[in-house]
Amino acid sequence: MSVVDESLVGRILDSRPPEPRYLLPILQEIQAAFRHLPREALLAVAGRLKVPAARVFSVAGFYKALSFTPKGERLLTVCQGTACHLRGAGALVESLEKRLGLRMGQTSGDGRLGLESVNCLGACALAPVVTVDGDVHGHLTPEKAQELV
Ligand code: FES
Repeated sequence: MSVVDESLVGRILDSRPPEPRYLLPILQEIQAAFRHLPREALLAVAGRLKVPAARVFSVAGFYKALSFTPKGERLLTVCQGTACHLRGAGALVESLEKRLGLRMGQTSGDGRLGLESVNCLGACALAPVVTVDGDVHGHLTPEKAQELV
């Protein structure tokens, strides 16, 4: 049974001209609306834009900000880029995984919290960095990182 709000998908599709160049913005809007890209929505996008479903799924799988599985309502993102790695990102990962009972890339069973990593958040001077729903927290220690939860 589908849990996709087809009218919401329809409104997102109607908000842009049905042209292939709008594929990525549409996928971003669907991701924001559903916290992931439901299969039914991707097929609707392919039909509306008249592009092969394989292309839609390929683009959806390419970008880390897009996901085939639901992301947490609250998302902790640990930077594991070079600057953060050198300044202790590994200890932050270990600490957060232990505290949350999640591994990187996982979402809690109730869907409320997700933990993921990125390669650089562009805030290297603040390394090591974690974002919570996009808000940047820098110069973290494992103890300070746990206070973010
Ligand atoms: S490496 Fe972490 S913000 Fe750049």
